[in-house]
Amino acid sequence: MSERSDFLIGRASPEDAAAIAALHAKALPPGWPESDFAASAVEANRALLKATDRGRVCGFALFQFAADEAEVLAIAVALDAQGRGHATRLMQAAFELCRERFIACIYLEVAETNGKARGLYEKLGFRVVARRDNYYRHESSASETALVMRLDTVRSAVDPEISSP
Ligand SMILES: CC(C)(COP(=O)(O)OP(=O)(O)OC[C@H]1O[C@@H](n2cnc3c(N)ncnc32)[C@H](O)[C@@H]1OP(=O)(O)O)[C@@H](O)C(=O)NCCC(=O)NCCS
Repeated sequence: MSERSDFLIGRASPEDAAAIAALHAKALPPGWPESDFAASAVEANRALLKATDRGRVCGFALFQFAADEAEVLAIAVALDAQGRGHATRLMQAAFELCRERFIACIYLEVAETNGKARGLYEKLGFRVVARRDNYYRHESSASETALVMRLDTVRSAVDPEISSP
């Protein structure tokens, strides 16, 4: 757990699933079922991290691991808690877990128009590696392009040979 005043980052448990599902549905409707988050909290190849502010879940990040790659499946911060570094700290805590697992690169997918999320990912060093045109289909609006982003430096912190030229 990392700590900063009343704010904590840590592993979520199945008991946090309802709060996380509600937060996710608000941030990225329609969201996913609570049961998916409850299962993810105990799945060996996933990490469900939560940010809490005085006990209230105000953000979460869900990572999946496969071989030496990881994928960011979801991340969201409650609207009234955004802009205070919660997502940055959630991602950094997940990077720590990636290092422990000798993960070589992390992938994610983001809507091209999602400026806030793209800002977060770019700041953390992710770079666009592919475009998927018309990937997201919304009932009420036109389809949207997805960008695939990758960060492949997390391993260097634990394996000096990989970072040396
Ligand atoms: C994307 C999201 C998780 C960022 O959470 P957050 O806690 O506000 O992020 P942080 O405070 O850690 O900010 C990290 C960076 O994100 C970017 N960012 C955050 N808010 C932003 C805004 N309003 N406008 C532009 N960029 C923004 C900035 O690059 C920021 O870095 P900076 O503060 O050094 O400028 C949050 O906006 C969110 O939940 N959005 C809805 C869900 C979503 O889109 N998830 C991602 C799906 S791929």
